[in-house]
Amino acid sequence: MEVGQVIIEAKNLKKTFGNIHALDGVSVEIPEGITLVLGPNGGGKSTFLKLATGVYRPSAGEIRVFGENPWNNWRVKKRFGVAYDPPAFPQFTTGREWLTLFAESKGFGGEEVERVAELFDVRSFLDERITGYSSGMLKRLSLTQAFIGKPELIFLDEPLANIDFESMGRVIEVIDGMGKTNFVIISHIWEPLMPIVDWVVVIGNGKVVLSGKAEEVQEDVEKLFKPRVRRGGRKAPSSPGQEGWQTPGGDKPPEAGTSATE
Ligand SMILES: Nc1ncnc2c1ncn2[C@@H]1O[C@H](COP(=O)(O)OP(=O)(O)OP(=O)(O)O)[C@@H](O)[C@H]1O
Ligand SMILES: [Mg+2]
Repeated sequence: MEVGQVIIEAKNLKKTFGNIHALDGVSVEIPEGITLVLGPNGGGKSTFLKLATGVYRPSAGEIRVFGENPWNNWRVKKRFGVAYDPPAFPQFTTGREWLTLFAESKGFGGEEVERVAELFDVRSFLDERITGYSSGMLKRLSLTQAFIGKPELIFLDEPLANIDFESMGRVIEVIDGMGKTNFVIISHIWEPLMPIVDWVVVIGNGKVVLSGKAEEVQEDVEKLFKPRVRRGGRKAPSSPGQEGWQTPGGDKPPEAGTSATE
């Protein structure tokens, strides 16, 4: 695809918490489409998302969303939806009460709650209190909330975390099926998302490590983020009866029916 219009722009963006430099001079342009944000734990991804959604105020530098500063700016905030990670909700309301309240704050009614409740199939538990939700149910409720009112931009922090295998495919299909909606998605589970992603930004150690078209950076992403696991430490077990069988004091597998104390 052609690189579209820039919708998010950061210039020398910094955020510090005490002496922690969560973001240490991020300059990046995010075009319309679906953008995947990757990077190691503690690298600054969620901090970037909170700056972009106007929850945090930059310590220095600037961030613009649709050309405007999102901090304390309802004109911009009305144009996007967001699901933070971990999800946070008031405890003693039901899912439906919460979604309805949220929809109303954006100028929508009960029909919109009905519509979004279908997306991630939250209807079966929507009338229960949020206090009793499992982590997967919380995640699905927070995803649902982000889609209220069909915003033109949706931020999702770890949309696949705690989601069971079957529902994961559904989440990706919903994102893919949103047509012209723009997405900024932070996800450690990136491989199943790659086919629908247009742009990739890698943030590590408070800085932008990589930013580019998905098809052009795919190889670098694989090098950086494909888990490499080498077995060591313990011997790989082989099937019982084979030469690798490890029993203290003997090189033969125990025979059926024999007890440990002979
Ligand atoms: N509210 C906060 N107060 C203090 N430190 C914070 C706060 N938010 C983030 N940090 C620190 O800023 C750094 C970046 O954190 P951030 O949550 O942005 O990382 P991340 O890339 O989202 O990591 P993860 O993959 O683990 O979610 C970390 O060192 C973190 O401890
Ligand atoms: Mg994070």
